[in-house]
Amino acid sequence: MKSPYASLGVAALALILAACGGEKKEAAPPAEAPAAAPVAAAVPQGQYAVCQTCHQADGNGVPNAFPPLAGSEIATGPSEVPIAIVLHGLQGPLTVHGTTYNGQMAAWGQFSDDDIAATLTYVRSSWGNAAPAVTAAEVAAVRAATSGRTTPWTWDELSKAKLK
Ligand code: HEC
Repeated sequence: MKSPYASLGVAALALILAACGGEKKEAAPPAEAPAAAPVAAAVPQGQYAVCQTCHQADGNGVPNAFPPLAGSEIATGPSEVPIAIVLHGLQGPLTVHGTTYNGQMAAWGQFSDDDIAATLTYVRSSWGNAAPAVTAAEVAAVRAATSGRTTPWTWDELSKAKLK
C-alpha cells in the first residue's frame, strides 16, 4: 500500500535540500516514485500451488510424467475443457503439444467455483499463455452439466461429453 506520507516525505526532503541550497548532492531515488503510474495488479494464483507440484511453477510440467500447461492447446482452448479436467481429473493416453502422456490426474472438484476460476485464469494468462479469463459462472455451469461424473475422464470421453 502506498502511504500518502511517502510523497509528503519526498516533498519535505526536496524543500529541505532547496532551503540548504548547499552542494548539489545527488539525492537517492525515492523508494516509491510519488507520481508513478499504478503497476498492473498481478493475476492471483488461486490454488495453483497445488497444481504446481506436478505442472511446475513455470508451467512446463515434467517430461514423460506431467504435461505442460504453458503453451498447452488444452489449457488455453475452450474453457469448459480445462474446467472439466480440474473438476473430475483425467487419465489415460493424452497428447499435448505433439507429445503423448499416459498418466493420471486426480479430481480437484472440492475447490470452489471461485478458486477454480482464479486458478485457471492464472494458468491461461501466465508463461506466455494469453487465453481469456475463466469466470466462476462458467465453472458452475460445467459442474452442473457433469455432476453425474464420479471418475476421472479419459480424453476420449471428455472430447465427446456435453460439458455445458
Ligand atoms: C499429482 C499431479 C497433478 C496435479 C496436482 C495436477 N495435475 Fe493436471 N495433470 C496431471 C497429469 C498426469 C495429467 C495428464 C493425465 C493423462 O495423461 O491423461 C494432467 C493434465 C492436465 C491438463 C490437461 C493437459 C494439459 O497439459 O493441458 C490440465 C489443463 C491440467 N492438468 C490442469 C491442472 C490444474 C489447473 C491443476 C491444479 C488445480 C492440476 N492440473 C493439478 C497431473 C497433475
